[in-house]
Amino acid sequence: MDKLIIRGGNRLSGSIPISGAKNAALTLIPCALLTEEPLTLRNLPRLADIDGFQHLMNQFGVTTVIQGTRPEDFGRVMSMEATRITSNVAPYDLVRKMRASILVLGPMLARSGEATVSMPGGCAIGNRPIDLHLKALEAFGAHIELAQGYVKAYQPDGGMPGGDFDFPVVSVGATENALMAAVLANGTSRLFNAAREPEIVDLCNMLVAMGAEIEGIGTSTLTIHGVKRLHGATYRVMPDRIEAGSYACAAAITGGEVRLEGAKADDMMATIHALQAIGVEVTWDAKGINVAANGALKATDLTTAPYPGLATDMQAQLMALLCRAHGTSVLKETIFENRFMHVPELARMGADITTEGRTAIVRGVERLTGAEVMATDLRASMSLVIAALAAEGETIVRRLYHLDRGYERLEEKLQLVGANIERVDD
Ligand code: EPZ
Repeated sequence: MDKLIIRGGNRLSGSIPISGAKNAALTLIPCALLTEEPLTLRNLPRLADIDGFQHLMNQFGVTTVIQGTRPEDFGRVMSMEATRITSNVAPYDLVRKMRASILVLGPMLARSGEATVSMPGGCAIGNRPIDLHLKALEAFGAHIELAQGYVKAYQPDGGMPGGDFDFPVVSVGATENALMAAVLANGTSRLFNAAREPEIVDLCNMLVAMGAEIEGIGTSTLTIHGVKRLHGATYRVMPDRIEAGSYACAAAITGGEVRLEGAKADDMMATIHALQAIGVEVTWDAKGINVAANGALKATDLTTAPYPGLATDMQAQLMALLCRAHGTSVLKETIFENRFMHVPELARMGADITTEGRTAIVRGVERLTGAEVMATDLRASMSLVIAALAAEGETIVRRLYHLDRGYERLEEKLQLVGANIERVDD
């Protein structure tokens, strides 16, 4: 098991390359099931979850070839070909390691008429139900059975007619599963109160490039006219707005000046506005985002919300930054029921935070001190790294497998801008 050793105090300065978006890639990869022709994805990040999804696709009989990197991309190129589907079952031992596997349900159902996927179960940040995924597919005419911890979905005779579904709660994954099922339905489907995250737009854009007919892309009402078949495509994964926001917080907490090469400001304006409210200078151009701070950070109240609101995936990282702000900040987490796992670990570094339900009160402190801390979930782990970069002394972060799921070459990227960080065997 590896650990990170971080010695805080260095001002970060320089340029960090931003990778392809994990949460876009995890919904683009299963789209290979929707066609017998090759689907090639560019700018894929090198992450454990991507490797896991590649392995899952191989289980279905999908051939996958990694072709290295193109000069204008930071990520790898992967070609997939689902000429023949040899299995339509996503087994428990794979799904439990990567809950995003549930995103094969919609496309596998659409392609082979039947899909059996292990229920993903909960995780550290909440029980993560999938009821909306199933209700949307049923609205399109699918039959759903739950047995022995598996979801079995199958099309009625004559195929799925499509239909309307109004989401009572905005759900990124359920919107993605519904889209990937509707594109090959026999009729038109409409989604109301659909998620509008940039990763959904990326998915819609790629499906259209494959021949799908989708109206309302980027809005909360999506109309999908089912087509008989989709063709292959080559598609570049969007830059990771959460990785970019995370490194922006790292630069800001050290009073540094960093360029986030390849980041797309339009995808992350709520994060940019939050950073500017905290007193961080943020500018951008077509090829990246510049972040500069001089150490004077202002307490700011923040509330997470579905896009275009402030991403829940940025809450932990912004909380770490606010630990060093002057004054008291109130953070409200409206999406997940248990997304404050970073609080007790930050407190061990000298942070002054109290939580009441989904609200955290962060009182800025003069100094943070290094400590041995433990990662609990992906974004909580990153908040500990951010705090460690500004803490006096040495911080040791363990259970790095959480970080490796969402941050490609984290220590290399931070070393690029002067952080005193190394990964060693534990
Ligand atoms: C996606 O998860 C992301 N994961 C999450 O990122 C992100 O935090 C989340 O969207 C919200 O933006 C991927 O894209 C792989 P949801 P997802 O369905 O789709 C409730 C990270 O750190 N809900 O939008 O699982 C749910 O409990 C990860 O990169 C239902 O009630 O999130 C939650 O309260 C963490 N029933 C809310 O909706 C359902 O069927 C939003 O969840 C589905 C969801």
